[in-house]
Amino acid sequence: MHRHTLRALFHRPNRHCLIYPLWLFFLFNVFFVKQLTIRDVYDDYHQLDVVQRVDMSTLKDTDVKTILLWNPWYGDFGFTLDDVSSFSRVGCKFKNCVLSKNKTKVVPEQADAIVFLYTNLCELPKVHGRQGFQRYVLLTDDPPMCYPRNYFERDNHFGSFFNWTISYRKNADVTWKRGWVKKLDQPLKKNSFSQIRLRNSKKKKKLVAWYVARCGSKSKREAYINELREYVEVDSYGPCGEKSCPETSGTPGAAILPCLDMLANNYKFILAFERYICDDFVTKRFFDLLDRDTVPIVFGGADYARIAPSHSFIDALSFSPRQLADHLMKLEKNENQYLRHFWWKDIYQVHSGYQELASQPFCDLCEKLNSNLPLKIYRDIDNWWYNSTKCFGPEDRGIVIRHNETIEDLHNVQVPWSFDD
Ligand SMILES: *[C@@H]1O[C@H](CO)[C@@H](O)[C@H](O)[C@H]1NC(C)=O
Ligand SMILES: *[C@@H]1O[C@H](CO)[C@@H](O)[C@H](O)[C@H]1NC(C)=O
Ligand SMILES: *[C@@H]1O[C@H](CO)[C@@H](O)[C@H](O)[C@H]1NC(C)=O
Ligand SMILES: *[C@@H]1O[C@H](CO)[C@@H](O)[C@H](O)[C@H]1NC(C)=O
Repeated sequence: MHRHTLRALFHRPNRHCLIYPLWLFFLFNVFFVKQLTIRDVYDDYHQLDVVQRVDMSTLKDTDVKTILLWNPWYGDFGFTLDDVSSFSRVGCKFKNCVLSKNKTKVVPEQADAIVFLYTNLCELPKVHGRQGFQRYVLLTDDPPMCYPRNYFERDNHFGSFFNWTISYRKNADVTWKRGWVKKLDQPLKKNSFSQIRLRNSKKKKKLVAWYVARCGSKSKREAYINELREYVEVDSYGPCGEKSCPETSGTPGAAILPCLDMLANNYKFILAFERYICDDFVTKRFFDLLDRDTVPIVFGGADYARIAPSHSFIDALSFSPRQLADHLMKLEKNENQYLRHFWWKDIYQVHSGYQELASQPFCDLCEKLNSNLPLKIYRDIDNWWYNSTKCFGPEDRGIVIRHNETIEDLHNVQVPWSFDD
Protein backbone atom coordinates (compact mmCIF):
# COMPACT_ATOMS: atom_id res chain seq x y z
CA MET A 1 0.00 0.00 0.00
CA HIS A 2 1.21 3.46 -0.75
CA ARG A 3 1.15 6.30 1.62
CA HIS A 4 -1.67 8.56 0.74
CA THR A 5 -2.17 12.00 2.00
CA LEU A 6 -5.59 12.87 3.30
CA ARG A 7 -6.19 15.09 0.35
CA ALA A 8 -5.67 12.23 -2.03
CA LEU A 9 -8.03 10.05 -0.06
CA PHE A 10 -10.57 12.76 0.05
CA HIS A 11 -10.68 12.97 -3.71
CA ARG A 12 -10.91 9.27 -4.38
CA PRO A 13 -14.19 9.00 -6.19
CA ASN A 14 -15.12 5.48 -5.23
CA ARG A 15 -18.13 4.39 -3.27
CA HIS A 16 -16.49 1.84 -1.11
CA CYS A 17 -17.83 1.95 2.37
CA LEU A 18 -14.52 3.37 3.50
CA ILE A 19 -15.19 6.63 1.80
CA TYR A 20 -17.70 7.79 4.36
CA PRO A 21 -15.61 7.26 7.42
CA LEU A 22 -12.69 8.81 5.60
CA TRP A 23 -14.68 11.96 5.18
CA LEU A 24 -15.32 12.03 8.84
CA PHE A 25 -11.74 11.36 9.58
CA PHE A 26 -10.76 14.08 7.20
CA LEU A 27 -12.99 16.69 8.70
CA PHE A 28 -11.60 16.19 12.14
CA ASN A 29 -8.01 15.64 11.33
CA VAL A 30 -7.40 18.55 9.06
CA PHE A 31 -7.68 20.72 12.10
CA PHE A 32 -5.20 18.78 14.12
CA VAL A 33 -2.86 18.19 11.24
CA LYS A 34 -2.28 14.52 10.72
CA GLN A 35 -1.68 11.95 8.09
CA LEU A 36 -3.37 8.66 7.52
CA THR A 37 -2.14 5.75 5.59
CA ILE A 38 -4.52 3.37 3.91
CA ARG A 39 -2.41 0.67 5.40
CA ASP A 40 -3.24 1.68 8.96
CA VAL A 41 -6.89 1.56 8.13
CA TYR A 42 -6.83 -1.94 6.74
CA ASP A 43 -4.49 -3.31 9.32
CA ASP A 44 -6.59 -2.06 12.17
CA TYR A 45 -9.72 -3.22 10.53
CA HIS A 46 -8.53 -6.76 10.19
CA GLN A 47 -7.24 -6.91 13.69
CA LEU A 48 -10.63 -6.36 15.19
CA ASP A 49 -11.00 -9.69 16.84
CA VAL A 50 -7.50 -9.97 18.15
CA VAL A 51 -8.01 -9.33 21.81
CA GLN A 52 -4.88 -8.80 23.78
CA ARG A 53 -4.99 -8.35 27.47
CA VAL A 54 -2.79 -5.53 28.49
CA ASP A 55 -2.17 -4.12 31.90
CA MET A 56 -4.64 -1.29 32.17
CA SER A 57 -3.03 0.24 35.21
CA THR A 58 -1.17 2.83 33.18
CA LEU A 59 -4.42 4.11 31.82
CA LYS A 60 -7.20 3.15 34.09
CA ASP A 61 -7.21 4.76 37.50
CA THR A 62 -10.00 3.63 39.72
CA ASP A 63 -12.20 6.36 38.44
CA VAL A 64 -11.27 6.74 34.79
CA LYS A 65 -13.94 5.92 32.22
CA THR A 66 -12.59 4.61 28.96
CA ILE A 67 -14.22 5.33 25.63
CA LEU A 68 -13.00 3.22 22.75
CA LEU A 69 -13.52 4.45 19.20
CA TRP A 70 -14.04 1.20 17.35
CA ASN A 71 -13.49 2.41 13.82
CA PRO A 72 -9.83 3.23 13.49
CA TRP A 73 -10.21 6.05 10.97
CA TYR A 74 -12.05 8.28 13.34
CA GLY A 75 -10.51 11.63 13.98
CA ASP A 76 -9.66 12.47 17.54
CA PHE A 77 -12.50 14.97 17.96
CA GLY A 78 -10.08 17.48 19.42
CA PHE A 79 -8.96 15.22 22.24
CA THR A 80 -5.52 13.84 22.75
CA LEU A 81 -6.01 10.10 22.48
CA ASP A 82 -4.99 7.93 25.41
CA ASP A 83 -4.45 10.99 27.55
CA VAL A 84 -6.19 11.10 30.92
CA SER A 85 -5.98 14.87 31.21
CA SER A 86 -7.45 15.56 27.78
CA PHE A 87 -11.09 15.92 28.83
CA SER A 88 -10.02 18.46 31.37
CA ARG A 89 -7.97 20.44 28.84
CA VAL A 90 -10.81 20.42 26.34
CA GLY A 91 -13.03 21.91 29.04
CA CYS A 92 -15.54 19.11 29.54
CA LYS A 93 -17.62 19.24 32.68
CA PHE A 94 -16.61 15.68 33.55
CA LYS A 95 -12.89 15.21 33.20
CA ASN A 96 -12.31 11.60 34.18
CA CYS A 97 -12.66 10.06 30.72
CA VAL A 98 -10.12 8.99 28.18
CA LEU A 99 -10.65 8.55 24.48
CA SER A 100 -8.75 5.83 22.68
CA LYS A 101 -8.60 3.99 19.37
CA ASN A 102 -6.00 1.59 20.61
CA LYS A 103 -7.58 -1.80 21.22
CA THR A 104 -4.54 -3.10 23.02
CA LYS A 105 -4.43 -0.20 25.41
CA VAL A 106 -8.17 -0.14 26.02
CA VAL A 107 -9.28 -3.72 25.49
CA PRO A 108 -12.79 -3.91 24.12
CA GLU A 109 -14.08 -6.01 26.98
CA GLN A 110 -12.95 -3.42 29.51
CA ALA A 111 -14.02 -0.20 27.84
CA ASP A 112 -16.83 1.63 29.58
CA ALA A 113 -18.15 2.61 26.17
CA ILE A 114 -17.38 1.50 22.65
CA VAL A 115 -18.43 3.93 19.95
CA PHE A 116 -19.25 2.49 16.54
CA LEU A 117 -19.54 4.68 13.51
CA TYR A 118 -22.73 3.77 11.76
CA THR A 119 -21.46 4.26 8.25
CA ASN A 120 -18.74 1.75 8.76
CA LEU A 121 -20.98 -1.04 9.86
CA CYS A 122 -20.74 -2.92 6.61
CA GLU A 123 -20.45 -6.03 8.67
CA LEU A 124 -21.08 -6.98 12.23
CA PRO A 125 -18.24 -5.91 14.46
CA LYS A 126 -16.76 -8.88 16.21
CA VAL A 127 -16.46 -7.84 19.78
CA HIS A 128 -15.65 -10.52 22.26
CA GLY A 129 -16.41 -10.76 25.92
CA ARG A 130 -19.05 -8.12 26.18
CA GLN A 131 -19.80 -7.24 29.75
CA GLY A 132 -23.02 -5.97 31.25
CA PHE A 133 -21.65 -2.64 32.43
CA GLN A 134 -20.44 -1.67 28.97
CA ARG A 135 -22.26 0.68 26.67
CA TYR A 136 -22.15 0.07 22.96
CA VAL A 137 -22.84 3.36 21.30
CA LEU A 138 -24.02 4.03 17.77
CA LEU A 139 -22.69 7.24 16.31
CA THR A 140 -24.35 8.67 13.26
CA ASP A 141 -25.01 12.11 12.06
CA ASP A 142 -26.87 12.22 8.80
CA PRO A 143 -30.53 11.59 8.18
CA PRO A 144 -31.14 7.94 7.35
CA MET A 145 -32.10 8.44 3.75
CA CYS A 146 -28.44 8.46 2.85
CA TYR A 147 -28.38 4.77 3.47
CA PRO A 148 -30.33 1.79 2.25
CA ARG A 149 -33.35 1.21 4.39
CA ASN A 150 -32.25 -2.23 5.41
CA TYR A 151 -28.82 -1.13 6.45
CA PHE A 152 -29.00 -2.79 9.81
CA GLU A 153 -30.98 -5.72 8.61
CA ARG A 154 -27.93 -6.92 6.71
CA ASP A 155 -27.03 -8.52 9.90
CA ASN A 156 -29.77 -9.34 12.25
CA HIS A 157 -27.36 -9.26 15.16
CA PHE A 158 -27.88 -5.55 15.37
CA GLY A 159 -31.03 -6.21 17.30
CA SER A 160 -30.17 -5.56 20.96
CA PHE A 161 -26.62 -4.59 20.09
CA PHE A 162 -26.58 -0.92 20.97
CA ASN A 163 -27.21 0.67 24.34
CA TRP A 164 -26.97 4.30 23.38
CA THR A 165 -27.00 6.52 20.32
CA ILE A 166 -25.16 9.69 19.38
CA SER A 167 -26.91 11.54 16.61
CA TYR A 168 -28.18 14.95 15.53
CA ARG A 169 -31.60 13.83 16.66
CA LYS A 170 -33.19 15.33 19.71
CA ASN A 171 -34.23 11.94 21.01
CA ALA A 172 -30.76 10.39 20.78
CA ASP A 173 -29.03 9.59 24.05
CA VAL A 174 -26.44 12.19 23.16
CA THR A 175 -27.56 14.84 20.74
CA TRP A 176 -24.65 15.94 18.61
CA LYS A 177 -25.33 19.56 17.87
CA ARG A 178 -23.90 21.44 14.94
CA GLY A 179 -24.01 24.63 16.90
CA TRP A 180 -26.05 26.31 19.57
CA VAL A 181 -27.06 29.72 20.82
CA LYS A 182 -26.73 30.62 24.46
CA LYS A 183 -28.12 33.53 26.39
CA LEU A 184 -25.38 35.53 28.08
CA ASP A 185 -25.46 36.21 31.80
CA GLN A 186 -24.38 39.77 31.11
CA PRO A 187 -25.15 41.68 27.93
CA LEU A 188 -22.07 42.30 25.84
CA LYS A 189 -20.30 45.55 26.52
CA LYS A 190 -19.17 46.01 22.96
CA ASN A 191 -22.74 46.50 21.79
CA SER A 192 -22.75 44.53 18.57
CA PHE A 193 -26.23 45.61 17.70
CA SER A 194 -25.35 49.26 17.29
CA GLN A 195 -22.20 48.26 15.42
CA ILE A 196 -24.26 46.24 13.01
CA ARG A 197 -26.60 49.19 12.58
CA LEU A 198 -23.65 51.45 11.86
CA ARG A 199 -21.95 49.05 9.49
CA ASN A 200 -25.17 48.52 7.64
CA SER A 201 -25.87 52.18 7.15
CA LYS A 202 -22.38 52.69 5.73
CA LYS A 203 -22.42 49.76 3.41
CA LYS A 204 -24.55 49.18 0.42
CA LYS A 205 -25.13 45.48 0.64
CA LYS A 206 -26.42 43.29 -2.11
CA LEU A 207 -29.45 41.19 -1.42
CA VAL A 208 -29.02 37.39 -1.45
CA ALA A 209 -26.09 35.00 -1.64
CA TRP A 210 -25.60 31.30 -1.25
CA TYR A 211 -22.49 29.28 -0.61
CA VAL A 212 -23.04 25.86 -2.07
CA ALA A 213 -20.58 23.08 -1.46
CA ARG A 214 -22.60 20.15 -2.83
CA CYS A 215 -24.27 20.18 -6.16
CA GLY A 216 -27.44 18.36 -5.34
CA SER A 217 -29.86 17.57 -2.59
CA LYS A 218 -32.82 15.51 -1.59
CA SER A 219 -34.59 18.56 -0.26
CA LYS A 220 -35.20 20.16 -3.69
CA ARG A 221 -33.52 23.29 -2.50
CA GLU A 222 -32.08 23.85 -5.98
CA ALA A 223 -35.56 23.94 -7.47
CA TYR A 224 -36.70 26.42 -4.86
CA ILE A 225 -33.70 28.65 -5.46
CA ASN A 226 -34.06 28.51 -9.22
CA GLU A 227 -37.56 29.75 -8.88
CA LEU A 228 -36.53 32.40 -6.38
CA ARG A 229 -34.04 33.63 -8.97
CA GLU A 230 -36.87 34.53 -11.29
CA TYR A 231 -37.70 37.35 -8.89
CA VAL A 232 -34.46 38.31 -7.15
CA GLU A 233 -30.81 37.86 -7.89
CA VAL A 234 -29.15 35.09 -5.91
CA ASP A 235 -25.37 35.04 -6.18
CA SER A 236 -24.02 31.57 -5.66
CA TYR A 237 -20.48 30.91 -4.43
CA GLY A 238 -18.40 27.83 -3.77
CA PRO A 239 -17.61 24.62 -5.62
CA CYS A 240 -21.10 24.39 -7.11
CA GLY A 241 -21.71 28.10 -7.42
CA GLU A 242 -20.98 30.53 -10.22
CA LYS A 243 -18.78 32.87 -8.25
CA SER A 244 -15.77 31.96 -6.27
CA CYS A 245 -14.44 33.21 -3.01
CA PRO A 246 -10.79 34.10 -3.47
CA GLU A 247 -10.08 33.07 0.12
CA THR A 248 -11.44 29.58 -0.26
CA SER A 249 -8.38 27.45 -0.59
CA GLY A 250 -6.96 24.61 1.38
CA THR A 251 -9.11 22.54 3.67
CA PRO A 252 -12.83 22.55 3.24
CA GLY A 253 -14.70 23.45 6.38
CA ALA A 254 -12.30 25.84 8.03
CA ALA A 255 -11.44 27.64 4.81
CA ILE A 256 -15.03 28.48 4.18
CA LEU A 257 -15.22 30.86 7.13
CA PRO A 258 -13.38 33.78 5.46
CA CYS A 259 -15.72 33.31 2.55
CA LEU A 260 -18.74 33.52 4.83
CA ASP A 261 -17.24 36.68 6.35
CA MET A 262 -16.96 38.19 2.92
CA LEU A 263 -20.51 37.19 2.03
CA ALA A 264 -21.92 38.49 5.30
CA ASN A 265 -20.19 41.82 4.69
CA ASN A 266 -21.71 42.12 1.27
CA TYR A 267 -25.13 40.52 1.41
CA LYS A 268 -28.14 41.19 3.56
CA PHE A 269 -29.39 37.64 3.39
CA ILE A 270 -27.59 34.35 2.97
CA LEU A 271 -29.25 31.04 2.31
CA ALA A 272 -28.77 28.23 4.81
CA PHE A 273 -30.64 25.61 2.80
CA GLU A 274 -30.23 22.04 3.95
CA ARG A 275 -29.77 19.00 1.74
CA TYR A 276 -32.41 17.15 3.72
CA ILE A 277 -35.54 18.42 5.35
CA CYS A 278 -35.73 16.13 8.34
CA ASP A 279 -36.83 16.74 11.90
CA ASP A 280 -33.99 18.18 13.99
CA PHE A 281 -31.53 18.23 11.09
CA VAL A 282 -29.52 21.42 10.67
CA THR A 283 -25.90 21.95 9.64
CA LYS A 284 -23.21 24.18 11.05
CA ARG A 285 -23.75 26.61 8.20
CA PHE A 286 -26.82 28.02 9.89
CA PHE A 287 -24.95 28.82 13.09
CA ASP A 288 -21.96 30.24 11.22
CA LEU A 289 -24.27 32.63 9.42
CA LEU A 290 -26.20 33.51 12.54
CA ASP A 291 -22.90 34.52 14.07
CA ARG A 292 -22.26 37.10 11.35
CA ASP A 293 -23.74 40.42 10.21
CA THR A 294 -26.32 38.86 7.97
CA VAL A 295 -29.71 37.21 8.15
CA PRO A 296 -29.81 33.49 7.38
CA ILE A 297 -32.69 32.22 5.31
CA VAL A 298 -33.37 28.69 6.44
CA PHE A 299 -34.86 25.73 4.60
CA GLY A 300 -34.84 22.65 6.75
CA GLY A 301 -36.62 20.49 9.28
CA ALA A 302 -35.06 21.71 12.51
CA ASP A 303 -37.19 23.49 15.04
CA TYR A 304 -35.47 26.79 14.33
CA ALA A 305 -37.62 28.76 16.75
CA ARG A 306 -36.29 26.55 19.51
CA ILE A 307 -32.62 26.61 18.53
CA ALA A 308 -32.25 30.29 17.63
CA PRO A 309 -33.59 33.62 18.91
CA SER A 310 -36.94 34.55 17.47
CA HIS A 311 -36.77 36.72 14.37
CA SER A 312 -33.05 36.03 13.91
CA PHE A 313 -33.67 34.16 10.67
CA ILE A 314 -36.23 33.89 7.88
CA ASP A 315 -37.89 30.56 7.16
CA ALA A 316 -38.14 29.92 3.44
CA LEU A 317 -40.62 27.12 4.04
CA SER A 318 -43.18 29.66 5.20
CA PHE A 319 -43.17 31.29 1.78
CA SER A 320 -43.42 30.33 -1.84
CA PRO A 321 -40.33 31.43 -3.78
CA ARG A 322 -42.25 34.40 -5.08
CA GLN A 323 -43.52 35.42 -1.65
CA LEU A 324 -40.04 35.10 -0.22
CA ALA A 325 -38.67 37.38 -2.95
CA ASP A 326 -41.36 39.94 -2.14
CA HIS A 327 -40.58 39.72 1.54
CA LEU A 328 -36.85 40.23 0.97
CA MET A 329 -37.42 43.19 -1.31
CA LYS A 330 -39.66 44.76 1.28
CA LEU A 331 -36.94 44.38 3.89
CA GLU A 332 -34.39 45.79 1.49
CA LYS A 333 -36.36 49.00 1.32
CA ASN A 334 -36.96 49.23 5.04
CA GLU A 335 -33.69 49.39 6.95
CA ASN A 336 -35.34 49.41 10.37
CA GLN A 337 -37.37 46.33 9.61
CA TYR A 338 -34.24 44.61 8.41
CA LEU A 339 -32.21 45.56 11.46
CA ARG A 340 -34.80 44.08 13.77
CA HIS A 341 -33.42 40.66 12.87
CA PHE A 342 -30.34 41.52 14.92
CA TRP A 343 -32.10 42.50 18.15
CA TRP A 344 -30.58 39.56 20.01
CA LYS A 345 -26.92 40.12 19.20
CA ASP A 346 -25.94 41.67 22.53
CA ILE A 347 -27.59 39.13 24.75
CA TYR A 348 -26.96 35.82 23.00
CA GLN A 349 -23.83 34.11 21.87
CA VAL A 350 -23.52 31.67 18.98
CA HIS A 351 -21.34 28.62 19.45
CA SER A 352 -20.16 27.04 16.24
CA GLY A 353 -16.43 26.46 16.63
CA TYR A 354 -15.10 23.20 15.27
CA GLN A 355 -13.37 22.28 18.47
CA GLU A 356 -16.48 22.83 20.53
CA LEU A 357 -18.70 20.95 18.11
CA ALA A 358 -16.32 18.05 17.75
CA SER A 359 -15.77 17.49 21.45
CA GLN A 360 -19.30 18.15 22.68
CA PRO A 361 -20.72 14.65 22.15
CA PHE A 362 -17.80 13.08 23.97
CA CYS A 363 -18.03 15.52 26.86
CA ASP A 364 -21.69 14.58 27.10
CA LEU A 365 -20.93 10.89 26.79
CA CYS A 366 -18.42 11.21 29.63
CA GLU A 367 -21.04 12.88 31.76
CA LYS A 368 -23.49 10.07 31.06
CA LEU A 369 -20.91 7.46 31.93
CA ASN A 370 -20.52 9.16 35.26
CA SER A 371 -24.23 9.16 35.94
CA ASN A 372 -25.81 6.13 37.44
CA LEU A 373 -28.17 5.42 34.57
CA PRO A 374 -30.34 2.34 34.21
CA LEU A 375 -29.68 -0.34 31.63
CA LYS A 376 -30.83 0.53 28.14
CA ILE A 377 -31.00 -1.60 25.02
CA TYR A 378 -32.09 -0.67 21.50
CA ARG A 379 -33.89 -3.86 20.59
CA ASP A 380 -34.69 -2.63 17.09
CA ILE A 381 -32.30 0.07 16.00
CA ASP A 382 -33.77 0.00 12.50
CA ASN A 383 -37.06 1.10 13.90
CA TRP A 384 -35.46 3.90 15.86
CA TRP A 385 -33.40 5.08 12.95
CA TYR A 386 -35.91 4.82 10.15
CA ASN A 387 -39.45 4.58 11.39
CA SER A 388 -39.18 7.37 13.88
CA THR A 389 -37.31 9.77 11.61
CA LYS A 390 -39.49 12.19 9.75
CA CYS A 391 -38.20 13.67 6.53
CA PHE A 392 -40.28 15.60 4.06
CA GLY A 393 -40.25 17.88 1.05
CA PRO A 394 -41.31 21.49 0.53
CA GLU A 395 -44.64 20.22 -0.84
CA ASP A 396 -45.47 18.81 2.58
CA ARG A 397 -45.42 22.37 3.83
CA GLY A 398 -47.71 23.42 1.02
CA ILE A 399 -44.93 24.99 -1.03
CA VAL A 400 -45.48 24.46 -4.73
CA ILE A 401 -42.32 24.49 -6.83
CA ARG A 402 -42.71 24.11 -10.54
CA HIS A 403 -39.58 22.18 -11.43
CA ASN A 404 -39.52 20.14 -8.32
CA GLU A 405 -37.36 17.15 -9.13
CA THR A 406 -34.60 16.04 -6.81
CA ILE A 407 -31.11 16.71 -8.09
CA GLU A 408 -28.66 14.03 -7.12
CA ASP A 409 -25.37 14.94 -5.59
CA LEU A 410 -22.24 14.97 -7.69
CA HIS A 411 -20.85 11.41 -7.84
CA ASN A 412 -23.81 10.49 -5.70
CA VAL A 413 -21.50 10.37 -2.73
CA GLN A 414 -23.30 11.16 0.46
CA VAL A 415 -21.27 12.62 3.21
CA PRO A 416 -22.35 11.30 6.56
CA TRP A 417 -20.97 13.95 8.77
CA SER A 418 -21.65 17.37 7.42
CA PHE A 419 -20.65 20.24 9.62
CA ASP A 420 -21.14 22.27 6.49
CA ASP A 421 -23.22 21.99 3.50
C1 LIG B 1 -1.35 0.74 21.48
O1 LIG B 1 -1.07 0.48 22.82
C2 LIG B 1 -0.04 -0.46 23.01
C3 LIG B 1 0.03 -0.80 24.47
O2 LIG B 1 0.06 0.35 25.26
C4 LIG B 1 1.25 0.13 22.46
O3 LIG B 1 2.30 -0.78 22.63
C5 LIG B 1 1.05 0.46 20.99
O4 LIG B 1 2.19 1.11 20.50
C6 LIG B 1 -0.15 1.35 20.80
N1 LIG B 1 -0.42 1.46 19.38
C7 LIG B 1 -0.53 2.62 18.80
C8 LIG B 1 -0.84 2.60 17.35
O5 LIG B 1 -0.43 3.67 19.41
C1 LIG C 1 -26.22 -3.04 26.92
O1 LIG C 1 -26.80 -3.90 25.98
C2 LIG C 1 -26.52 -5.26 26.24
C3 LIG C 1 -27.03 -6.08 25.06
O2 LIG C 1 -28.34 -5.90 24.84
C4 LIG C 1 -27.16 -5.64 27.53
O3 LIG C 1 -26.93 -7.00 27.82
C5 LIG C 1 -26.59 -4.80 28.64
O4 LIG C 1 -27.24 -5.05 29.86
C6 LIG C 1 -26.71 -3.33 28.32
N1 LIG C 1 -25.93 -2.59 29.26
C7 LIG C 1 -26.27 -1.40 29.76
C8 LIG C 1 -25.33 -0.82 30.76
O5 LIG C 1 -27.26 -0.80 29.43
C1 LIG D 1 -41.11 0.33 10.07
O1 LIG D 1 -41.70 0.77 8.84
C2 LIG D 1 -41.73 -0.22 7.84
C3 LIG D 1 -42.22 0.41 6.56
O2 LIG D 1 -43.24 1.31 6.79
C4 LIG D 1 -42.61 -1.38 8.29
O3 LIG D 1 -42.64 -2.37 7.29
C5 LIG D 1 -42.04 -1.95 9.57
O4 LIG D 1 -42.86 -2.97 10.06
C6 LIG D 1 -41.88 -0.87 10.63
N1 LIG D 1 -41.18 -1.44 11.75
C7 LIG D 1 -41.64 -1.30 12.97
C8 LIG D 1 -40.88 -2.02 14.00
O5 LIG D 1 -42.61 -0.61 13.26
C1 LIG E 1 -43.97 18.30 -8.63
O1 LIG E 1 -44.59 19.14 -9.58
C2 LIG E 1 -45.57 18.48 -10.37
C3 LIG E 1 -46.00 19.45 -11.41
O2 LIG E 1 -46.28 20.71 -10.87
C4 LIG E 1 -46.70 18.01 -9.46
O3 LIG E 1 -47.68 17.32 -10.22
C5 LIG E 1 -46.13 17.08 -8.41
O4 LIG E 1 -47.13 16.70 -7.50
C6 LIG E 1 -45.02 17.74 -7.68
N1 LIG E 1 -44.41 16.77 -6.83
C7 LIG E 1 -44.08 17.07 -5.62
C8 LIG E 1 -43.48 15.93 -4.84
O5 LIG E 1 -44.23 18.17 -5.15
